[in-house]
Amino acid sequence: ALERTLSILKPDATRRNLTGKINARFEEAGLRIVAQKRAWLSQAQAEKFYEVHKARPFFGELVSFMISGPVVLQVLEGENAVTRNREIMGATDPSKAEPGTIRREFAESIEANSVHGSDSPENAAIEIAYFFAGTEIVG
Ligand code: CMP
Repeated sequence: ALERTLSILKPDATRRNLTGKINARFEEAGLRIVAQKRAWLSQAQAEKFYEVHKARPFFGELVSFMISGPVVLQVLEGENAVTRNREIMGATDPSKAEPGTIRREFAESIEANSVHGSDSPENAAIEIAYFFAGTEIVG
């Protein structure tokens, strides 16, 4: 089915000027960038976005990392966009990600792993609504 997923290019990616290279991966994989904006998240925004990870030992570091520089927030659209994006991102830990995936090629560490992608269509809807107004998404 035609789906949408939320993608974030993380501060390690913007710092190394990798936004174009990563966007090319999405487009080559058949995903369309139907909304995109650069933002510097506040601590409150990052904490709320990653609320499901609140109890994890890495939560504090994760939030600090996500507010350490600008991010690029995106909505990607395409056939099975949620799963497709997870395939091309690769595993969370870049050392475990398949060769050719975004994280294997670009990520610095399990935390500074260059990209975020929604893990289910249900979460995609919640995450997209958290960052984008309907009028900002042009399919
Ligand atoms: P993401 O897909 O955005 O979802 C949660 C994030 O937490 C993950 O990518 C990583 O950036 C980070 N993360 C996950 N596991 C760890 C870990 N073990 N240590 C530090 N950060 C982690």
